[in-house]
Amino acid sequence: MTAPVTGDDLHPWQQALRAQFPIVTQHPELAYLDSAATAQKPQAVLDTVQSYLTTSNANAARGTYPWANRTTELVERTRERVARFLGDTEPDRSAVHFTSGTTEGLRVIARDWLPGFLRDGDEIVVPDADHQANITPWLEAQQLLARQGVHVRVVPMP
Ligand SMILES: Cc1ncc(COP(=O)(O)O)c(C=O)c1O
Repeated sequence: MTAPVTGDDLHPWQQALRAQFPIVTQHPELAYLDSAATAQKPQAVLDTVQSYLTTSNANAARGTYPWANRTTELVERTRERVARFLGDTEPDRSAVHFTSGTTEGLRVIARDWLPGFLRDGDEIVVPDADHQANITPWLEAQQLLARQGVHVRVVPMP
């Protein structure tokens, strides 16, 4: 059991930050620590998602009708902003990829990106204490990597 967080315990910047999250303001007694699994959304994100779904919900980079064009533009603009946020100095040639989550992101790395940099005899070492999100993708890519002589080892952590 944690003690309830009250406004008095917090700095003004912390209060301002919490105030952006409706779910947090509705449950002021809770401290949410599961952001790696699901991030809570601030009002700005909730508003943007609502606006997107009610004005231009369509597939990006696949259609030629106005909603699809608008979605493509939004995705590309977001890609650039994320690249700039991460320090990319040439954001329009950035390599920002959006995936559904950590597991899928690591699947893309293990299967599609990293093999190009590996050589016969290389080893990928994964601590068995890691979250499944960082174990499953490597085990799934094991056979593919073995074809180029790369071995995946899941090692016990002391
Ligand atoms: C600690 C931690 N890391 C990573 C993940 C990855 O989740 P996902 O692949 O669903 O993004 C989770 C999901 O529960 C998690 O709890």
